[in-house]
Amino acid sequence: MSKLSETLKDIRRRVDDMLDKLLPLPVGPEKQVVEAMRYATIGGGKALRPFLLMMTASMFGVSKEDSLRVATALEMLHSYSLIHDDLPCMDNDDLRRGKASCHKKFDEATAILAGDGLLTRAFEIIGSEKSWVDPVVRCELVVALANAAGFHGMVGGQMLDLLAEKEEIDLPLTEVIRLEGMKTGRLLIFACEAGAILGKASFEERQALKTYASDLGLAFQITDDILDIEGTVEKVGKTLRKDVKANKATYVSLVGVDAAKQKAKELIQHAIDALAPFEERALPLKELALFILTRDH
Ligand code: IPE
Ligand code: IPE
Ligand code: MG
Ligand code: MG
Ligand code: MG
Repeated sequence: MSKLSETLKDIRRRVDDMLDKLLPLPVGPEKQVVEAMRYATIGGGKALRPFLLMMTASMFGVSKEDSLRVATALEMLHSYSLIHDDLPCMDNDDLRRGKASCHKKFDEATAILAGDGLLTRAFEIIGSEKSWVDPVVRCELVVALANAAGFHGMVGGQMLDLLAEKEEIDLPLTEVIRLEGMKTGRLLIFACEAGAILGKASFEERQALKTYASDLGLAFQITDDILDIEGTVEKVGKTLRKDVKANKATYVSLVGVDAAKQKAKELIQHAIDALAPFEERALPLKELALFILTRDH
């Protein structure tokens, strides 16, 4: 196993343990929503956002133990975005992370509430003293995450995605790049930003990490769009060949697979170049960037 896959596995395990601790036990007559929150988070996905957050924080001397709660909150928020993304009124997807999507396993109302529960729990955890002692740092994290996840970021990007699909707006390539950066890039940028906030990185260091993460984020969504065309369901764990059918506006739908692959390559090279000031400290981030280019899941 490569160093990167070992680290990803280790982080996945730590995040799962923390999710188990931080999500309530399913008891009481309202337990169905908790069951759905647990179902959609524990043991699922690549844990890329926690990886980015924890590895960035560790570049500035913050241990994995110390950044784990914030990283787990971010994974909760990301999982909420996936639950809602799969709903019939959005992408109408029945398969997520190799199993029935949340609304298929439970029902639509439970899936909406599970998403709401994960979103709010994420902020509760970041705001808690147990996650980080310094209240100024916690405030900065809350504001940055709300901005990345809200209408300036993921939520706004998802709106553009759905309007473009229904042809209520017609987006040129620059706007599709903006859409993909918002719906996906912003949370990946937050992951690195949060690591930098925890580690009290300098302004220049934060700028370099932002360049890295925004190029990585766009490359990540482009490769997600490519996997929708070229991937296998067994590896990806999602229903594939859906974007064309759904008339999605993606980088790939506008320029084709070959040009999209070339763009992803350029973005990843640019992302790696931005890490130069950190030298060997940024090796995990560099390895992750290279993984994005060759990923099959
Ligand atoms: C899927 O994200 C949604 C996109 C932003 C493309 P991931 O591919 O990181 O999903 P998981 O967490 O590994 O399931
Ligand atoms: C959505 O992008 C990203 C989110 C904000 C959840 P996609 O709709 O392409 O993500 P997948 O392919 O369903 O994971
Ligand atoms: Mg979508
Ligand atoms: Mg989707
Ligand atoms: Mg997709």
